[in-house]
Formats: sequence, structure tokens, C-alpha cells
Amino acid sequence: MGSKVALVTGGTGGIGSAICRELANQGFNVVAGYNSGGNHEKAANWKAQQAADGFDIDVAYGDVSDPASSEACVNGIIEKHGSIDVLVNNAGITRDSTFRKMTLEQWDEVMNANLRSVFNMTRLCINPMLENKWGRIINISSVNGQKGQFGQTNYAAAKAGMHGFTKSLAQEVASKGITVNTVSPGYILTSMVAAIGDDILEKIASTIPVGRLGQPEEIAHAVSYLASDPAAFITGSNLAINGGQHMF
Ligand code: CAA
Ligand code: NAP
Repeated sequence: MGSKVALVTGGTGGIGSAICRELANQGFNVVAGYNSGGNHEKAANWKAQQAADGFDIDVAYGDVSDPASSEACVNGIIEKHGSIDVLVNNAGITRDSTFRKMTLEQWDEVMNANLRSVFNMTRLCINPMLENKWGRIINISSVNGQKGQFGQTNYAAAKAGMHGFTKSLAQEVASKGITVNTVSPGYILTSMVAAIGDDILEKIASTIPVGRLGQPEEIAHAVSYLASDPAAFITGSNLAINGGQHMF
């Protein structure tokens, strides 16, 4: 058998890129999922940049909030690469607003991209993993799914929902060689965090005991460990990586 295949949704984004590169370092055959409103050229440029940096990472288009698009994406990858052994549900968005101002659209967009996506993608990957008797599902949640955050009722609800999903599915597939875990990053320096107003971000940063924002690579190393064989006894867990901002 060749290398195990890892699909990272949102793989061309800030944290996703670091995860893709680290999984490639560990010998996985990595596919980065992208949406980008169908901007295939942007993804092709990202792939070329990875190649220039020495990483052979494929890209696959799909809107993870849409079941049909997710299915086309997963089928295409299995046809081309043979399997999906590791699924990292990393795609996500924010539509921050205080609850009193939040629209139904902002609620739905976040629930669909951040939580419905986990259902869409995992249900397509789980049966082949069960047949292979090996699989890793790693869900990227957030510190704000654990502690809540002013302006993020939608996002925190979706990210908290991932924990229930992880712990339930972990029980269902534990005896079949499949682990299901959640990683909860704190504030990590990517475009998602850069979109927060400077004064608000400064206040948030001052609540992080380590004294800085996190780096995408600090999430990627944890994900690659959870994807590895030695992590076979870790399932249904949540790994908080937040510089001490929230401990429990
Ligand atoms: N706590 C308490 N009150 C607060 C507050 C806070 N943190 N922030 C603002 N307020 C108060 C203001 O003082 C103001 O009070 P008054 O009405 O009495 O004057 C009121 O709330 C403002 O309410 P608005 O609805 O008008 O808020 P806004 O439109 O100005 O801003 C917001 C709302 C856009 C959500 C803004 O607060 C914000 O950007 N917050 C940051 C949210 C955040 O952390 N997002 C994380 C994005 S990155 C990510 O999600 C990755 C990850 O997983 C970590
Ligand atoms: P990012 O750079 O904005 O990346 C987000 C990625 O998600 C993008 O690559 C985007 O793809 C993809 N995406 C969004 N909606 C999609 C959809 N419908 N279908 C397919 N892909 C979609 O942000 P990031 O910081 O790396 O975030 C990655 C994950 O970490 C998110 O789930 C986020 O909630 C979580 N997280 C981030 C932080 C942080 O501080 N940065 C903290 C905790 C958790 P396209 O650009 O191709 O559309």
C-alpha cells in the first residue's frame, strides 16, 4: 500500500496550509480542499507555491457546506488517490455580530460552513475508513467553542457542536481502528484573526498568558500527531492549544 491519504478541508487557508505541510512532512499524501468561490486559479497558485517550497500537495474543489459539492469533492479524491484515510475538518468562517443584531443569514452561514460541513464530509469518508479498519477524523474547533465569545453566538455554537459530534462518533467507531478527536485552537495569526479590529484584538491578546497569538504550525504539529499510528489510543478527546487563555 502507498502513503495514507489525508484530506484537509480549508487546506489552502492559514491553519490549513500549515496542517497540509506538516502532514506531508510526515509522509502522508495530502489533498487540500478549497472553495474560494470557485476561484480555481487561486488554488492552482497555492499548489504551485507549495511545490516551489518542496511540498507535493494536491488541491480539490468543494463547498463543504453543500452536500452535493462535498460528495463530488470526496468522490474525485478517492478516484484519483484511492482513499481518504485522514479527514481534517478544518474549513470555517466567522460572521461576527452581537446577538441582537445577528441576521438569520449570518447564523445559517456559520452553522452550515462550520458544523453542517462536518456532517457532510465525515459521512462520505467514514464507510471507506470502516472497510479499511483504519481512519483518523480530526475536527478543528476553537477556544471560543469552549468559553464563548462576545459577538460569536453563531460561531461558538457551531464550534461547541463539534465536541458533541466528536465524542459521539468516537464511541461508534472506536472498535474499528478509527479515532475521532477535536483540536481547539486559541487565537492564531491568520487572516481570520487579522479581520478583528486592532483595538479589540489587542484586548484579547492581553488575556493570553503566554503573551502572544499562536502560530498555525503550533496547531499543525498536534494534528499530525493525532493522525499518526502512536495516537491510536487517543479518541473522543479535545486538545486545547490556546496559550493558556482558557483552561479546563
Ligand atoms: N464585552 C462586553 N461589552 C462589549 C464587548 C465585550 N467584549 N465588546 C463590545 N462591547 C459593548 C460596547 O462597549 C458597546 O456598548 P454600548 O452599547 O453600551 O455602547 C456594545 O457592546 C457594542 O455593541 P454592538 O452590537 O454595536 O457591537 P459592535 O458592532 O461594535 O461590535 C463585534 C461587535 C463585531 C462582534 C465586535 O465586538 C468584535 O469584533 N468582537 C470580536 C469577536 C471575536 O473575538 N471574534 C473572533 C474572530 S477570530 C476567530 O473566531 C478564531 C477563533 O476561533 C479564535
Ligand atoms: P482562514 O485562513 O480564513 O481559512 C479558512 C478556510 O476555510 C479557507 O481556506 C476557506 O477556503 C475554507 N472554507 C470556508 N468556507 C468553506 C466552504 N464552504 N467550503 C470549503 N472551504 C471553506 O482561517 P484559519 O484561521 O486558517 O481557520 C481554519 C479553521 O481554524 C477554521 O475552522 C477556524 O474556525 C478555526 N480556528 C481558527 C482560529 C484562529 O485564530 N485563526 C482559532 C480557532 C479555530 P476558501 O478560502 O478556499 O474559500
